[in-house]
Amino acid sequence: MTNYWPRFSRENFESSVPPIDYLEWYIPRLQEARTHNLSFSGMQYNWDIKGMLGDKLADISKPYMADIEDPRIIISQREGVHPDNVLITHGATQGINIALLTAIAKIRDRIDGNIVVAAESPTYAPIPQTALILADEVIRINKTPPESGIGHWRVDRDEWQLAMKKSHIAMITPISNPSGWDLHPEDRDWIIQQAKQNDVILVADEAYNDAYRHIADYRAIHTFGDNCISINSLTKVYGMGPIRFGWLVADKETIAIGKNIFMTFSGVMASPTMRIAAEALKNLAKVDQAIDYYREENLPKLRTVLEKHGIVWNEPTAGVFGCFELPNNLSSETFADHHCKANDLLVVPGSMFSEKMTSWVRVAWSIEPEPFKLAIHALDKSLQSALN
Ligand SMILES: Cc1ncc(COP(=O)(O)O)c(C=O)c1O
Repeated sequence: MTNYWPRFSRENFESSVPPIDYLEWYIPRLQEARTHNLSFSGMQYNWDIKGMLGDKLADISKPYMADIEDPRIIISQREGVHPDNVLITHGATQGINIALLTAIAKIRDRIDGNIVVAAESPTYAPIPQTALILADEVIRINKTPPESGIGHWRVDRDEWQLAMKKSHIAMITPISNPSGWDLHPEDRDWIIQQAKQNDVILVADEAYNDAYRHIADYRAIHTFGDNCISINSLTKVYGMGPIRFGWLVADKETIAIGKNIFMTFSGVMASPTMRIAAEALKNLAKVDQAIDYYREENLPKLRTVLEKHGIVWNEPTAGVFGCFELPNNLSSETFADHHCKANDLLVVPGSMFSEKMTSWVRVAWSIEPEPFKLAIHALDKSLQSALN
């Protein structure tokens, strides 16, 4: 049997690089183009690129330097920082690479021995696996579901403290994929305190954060000062993955190093990406509204079906996806590949994120209410056949 979860060691891949296994599961299923799709962790928003760019569309492949509004300025205003605190990247995933390279460059000459990175689980595989490529050792740190079934996923402070003491860098995802839950503010503040005490550089993949901006206690990791790097992109919350536009926010010294790394590896940002992003960044409020609308319209239907089947539903306070556990340790890969497939529905098994989540299913309400209604009907039938 193939395992699809993220790797935290190079075992069996010495002198090589481990694959991103979950894509081997997910891409062929996306290619099946199942009629109903609850698998998207990001908003499916139909941007009107033609309408937004107008005549500027004809310039899409021309150098952009002088004739677009600098997206760093819009992002810096949004984040309450100076533009020199912002570095644009090709998506959050390249942001992870650049942030980690930057963190390593900052410490490499003073570390005698291995560079150690603590990385959160469950997670998006490129987070620990970038560290497997670039650092010497990766320590896994776990977030676990609440005992009551409802509320924030939490960190085990003894486990995390031990890891932070041994690590030079820690990689976290404040809004977690697949739970959709944000870090408990007490855990967040405690992690920051541990990072500062142990001289650990914090790298936070905040690809889902924008959906939480309006929530009380929301705070991006970069706001905690030096050596706290935030990564974000237009992919998830704003439905613009295909243009590959992301950014880092951190203290100016860190960003200056990241900029040298970006230029060494990538030169300049792609012109179509910058031109589209420069316009899209002025229109993000439209997508924020669409998220509110999808939550309002879609979530009640999801709640009803899960309740009908006696499934505990730990609904995240914001965003467009969450996950639930199937009863009786049922395999969610079997659920997706047999019961859901029979109803032409795609969902994501928790085994894409951790070996501890083989009975979990990630579902999203990131699509229009009409197709969502049909997809929920397919989910109902799939649960009916799996649980009876
Ligand atoms: C936590 C997390 N970060 C980043 C990404 C991808 O972001 P991008 O498309 O901007 O590289 C994903 C996609 O699943 C993700 O789950």
